[in-house]
Amino acid sequence: MKLLYQLNAAFTALIVVIMSIAAFFIYSLLMDMLIQDEQRQLKARAELLISVLNDRETRSDELSRLIQDRNYPILLFERSQNTVFFSTVPPATAENWISNYDELVDQEVWEGQNERYVVYDFPLSSQSNEVLVMATPLNDLQAVQTVFALRMIFVFVIGLLLAVIISHFLTRRLVTPLTRLKQEVKKIEKRQFEDVQPVKASGEIKEVEQSVRHMAEELARYIHSQKQFFQNASHELKTPLQSIQGYAEGIRDGIFEGEAAEKGYNVMIQETERLKKIVNEMILLAKLDSSADIYHPSHTNVTDLLTQAKDRLLPLARDKEVELELEIADTFHSYVDEERVLQAFINIISNGIRHAHQKLRISSNIEGEVLTIRVQDDGEGIPEELLPQLFERFIKGKGGETGLGLAISRAIVERSGGTIQAYNRTDQNGAIFEIRFPKID
Ligand SMILES: Nc1ncnc2c1ncn2[C@@H]1O[C@H](COP(=O)(O)OP(=O)(O)OP(=O)(O)O)[C@@H](O)[C@H]1O
Ligand SMILES: [Mg+2]
Repeated sequence: MKLLYQLNAAFTALIVVIMSIAAFFIYSLLMDMLIQDEQRQLKARAELLISVLNDRETRSDELSRLIQDRNYPILLFERSQNTVFFSTVPPATAENWISNYDELVDQEVWEGQNERYVVYDFPLSSQSNEVLVMATPLNDLQAVQTVFALRMIFVFVIGLLLAVIISHFLTRRLVTPLTRLKQEVKKIEKRQFEDVQPVKASGEIKEVEQSVRHMAEELARYIHSQKQFFQNASHELKTPLQSIQGYAEGIRDGIFEGEAAEKGYNVMIQETERLKKIVNEMILLAKLDSSADIYHPSHTNVTDLLTQAKDRLLPLARDKEVELELEIADTFHSYVDEERVLQAFINIISNGIRHAHQKLRISSNIEGEVLTIRVQDDGEGIPEELLPQLFERFIKGKGGETGLGLAISRAIVERSGGTIQAYNRTDQNGAIFEIRFPKID
C-alpha cells in the first residue's frame, strides 16, 4: 500500500479511536449530569412552590390545578401516619414510596410502577413529619440523552470528515517530497547523475535529499575517476609493453644487430623494471585500500620519521642543488606504520626536491592534539588543472614519472588516521603539501 494511504489510514484510525473514547465518556457522564441538573431544578421548583403555598394558602386550589396541568409528579405526605395530603403520581406508586421512604431517601432515582423517576425530596419543616417529593420521569431525561447522542454523532462525523481531509493534505505535503526523492534516486540507479534535481523539502527529508545529492556527486566522481584510472593504467602499462615488443621483434627479425641489439636489451630490461614497479605500486595501493596485513601500526614518533626522510633524500637534494631546511617540533607520538609513513614522506619530499628551484622547507608544529607537517618548495607550483585530482592514481604533470607517488602517500596518510592536502603558495611560486596526524598517547 502507498505511504500516503498508509499514513491517512493510520491518522483516521487514531482519530476514530480518540473520538469513540471521548464519546463513550461523554455519553456515560451525561446521564449523571442530567440527573443532577434535574434535581437542582426540582429543588428550585419545590422552594418556589413552598413559598407560594405559604404566602397564598387561599389560592392553593388554583395552584394544584396548575401543577396538574403541567403534569409535575408531586407527592406531599405525612410520615408517621402515612397520610397523603396531595399527589399527582399514580396512587400505587405513592403508596410504595411512602411505605419504603426510609430506604428510598438516599437514592436519586426512585422506582415507580411503570417507570423510574428522578426525585428531590425534603421535609417541609423540622418539627412536622410532612415530606414533599418532587419527581421527573427518567424517560424524559433519556429522551434528552438520545437527542444529545444523535447530535454528538453528527458533530463527530463532521469532525472526522474534516480531520480526514486535513490529514490528507498534511500527509500529501509530507509524502510528495519523498515521491520526488524516489524518482531522483531512480536516476542515480540508472547512472543519470547529471539529471538529478534538487527536491523541495524540509526537516529530515531535506537532510536525506542533501545526502542523496551528495552521494550522487560522489558516485559520479568515483565512476569518473575509475574510468580515468583504467585509461591511465592501460596507457602506462601499454607504453613499456609496446617498446619491449618492438625491440624483441626487431632483434628476432634481425633488424637490430650488434650494438643496436645491445641497446634494445637494455631498454627491454629498463622497461620491464618500470612495469614491475608500476604493478607493485598498484598492488600496494589496492592492499592499502582493503587488506589489513600490509599496514602494521605501532606507537611512533612521527617527527623522527621526518628527520629520517630528510637524511635519505640528502644525496638527491645535493644532486639537484636544492637546499633542504628542516624545522621540527617536539616529539609527537601517533599510532602509525613507521615504514609506510616514512615512504609517504619520501614520496612528497622527493617530489618537492624534483620541482624546487633552490630551496625546500620542511616544518612541523603541534596544535592541541594534531601535528601539522608542511613541505614547501620554491618551484613552479602544481599545475592548476592537476590540483582537483592530484592524489588520484596515474595523475601526473609534465615530466612526471608514474603518477602513483601521491596516490600511495594519501592512502598511507589516511590509513594512519591523518589528512593530506596540496595547494600553491600565494606569496611566491611553489607548492605546499600539508599533512596532519592525530596524537596518540
Ligand atoms: N612539489 C611539487 N611541485 C609541483 N608539482 C608537483 C609537486 N609534487 C607533485 N607535483 C605534480 O604532481 C604529479 C603527481 O605526483 P606523483 O608523486 O603522484 O607522481 P610522479 O612524481 O609523477 O611519479 P611517482 O609515482 O614516481 O612519484 C607530478 O607528476 C607533478 O606534476
Ligand atoms: Mg612522485
